[in-house]
Amino acid sequence: MSKPQVLICGTIVHAHDELKNDLGAVAEVLQLDSADRQAFYKDCAEGGRYSNITAIYRHNDSASSIGVFDADLIAHLPASLKSICHNGAGYDQIDVAAAKQRGIHVSHTPSAVDDATADVAMFLVLSSLRQFYRAERNAREGKWKSGLKPAHDPETKVLGIIGMGGIGSALARRAEAFDMKILYHNRNRNPNAQPSWEYVSSQAELLRRADVVSLNLPLNPQTEKSFGREQFGQMKDGAILVNTARGGVVDEEELIKALESGKLSSAGLDVYPAEPKIDSRLVAMEQCILLPHMGTETCETQKKMEVQVFGSIKAVLETGKPTFLVKEHRE
Ligand SMILES: *[C@@H]1O[C@H](CO)[C@@H](O)[C@H](O)[C@H]1NC(C)=O
Ligand SMILES: *[C@@H]1O[C@H](CO)[C@@H](O)[C@H](O)[C@H]1NC(C)=O
Repeated sequence: MSKPQVLICGTIVHAHDELKNDLGAVAEVLQLDSADRQAFYKDCAEGGRYSNITAIYRHNDSASSIGVFDADLIAHLPASLKSICHNGAGYDQIDVAAAKQRGIHVSHTPSAVDDATADVAMFLVLSSLRQFYRAERNAREGKWKSGLKPAHDPETKVLGIIGMGGIGSALARRAEAFDMKILYHNRNRNPNAQPSWEYVSSQAELLRRADVVSLNLPLNPQTEKSFGREQFGQMKDGAILVNTARGGVVDEEELIKALESGKLSSAGLDVYPAEPKIDSRLVAMEQCILLPHMGTETCETQKKMEVQVFGSIKAVLETGKPTFLVKEHRE
């Protein structure tokens, strides 16, 4: 009996042994090598090389040849396809509604990214409070402490977390070790939250009370640019914004205005609306901490993510459904 076929759209960087021995034991693994989107459509069509695939492993690096998984691409996927198993917690590069309409399940890698992303968020919280970008520049330029102003401690400051899922919770645990007080806002109270984390049902209240606000929510049509002029206006004078979620949830023009006016004293950013481009006004702001989307850029976490996707695919082959379905399939 022939094994079901799985198409790897993207590059496996770490979990080569697991690909060969785990997934390879139960599936025939094909590697995407269509030159571009049109070639991919041909390969997916009847009689094409990918016309009988059961599941797709998707990494966003496949976008460089075939583009993101928008409605048009999804319309061309073969009838045999049951699931798109995405390597990444954020899946805004996949049109889930279009997939759902075709009866194709979409899964992602929520838990695997939690620790590494929370580490980056905690770094941004500390580095923006302590103003370590300026300090590091001084050190490298031989200026020692000249011109550096006293910065701020995390201890006793209020950290407001918007979006209390796995990453938000991992950040809260870290911040508590620095004696920060945790407030969080979510659609609902998180049943796994620690009793010391205070839930506030109103985002405006969180913004009024927080010294540092961390965004830990997904990008979707409801959250796109949901953080703008009104929200910055509700924040404390001199507050700090940390974003490790998606650049698209923030209205960047309003963020820049809030930084220019001094309403915000700093921002710690790992994500931007037009990646890999960073607005030159932000680049020029020495009070801001900027990273090039480093959230999950570690060997250990990327391997965990690859292995988690293989697990989802194996579930598709065994049960017809992946593990770690995106929330649109669960509601
Ligand atoms: C397609 O794959 C399924 C298993 O997923 C297999 O049963 C079927 O024979 C395959 N069909 C062709 C035409 O290869
Ligand atoms: C996914 O790839 C597209 C196209 O290369 C790019 O525009 C987008 O920023 C990427 N998204 C993420 C989250 O890496």
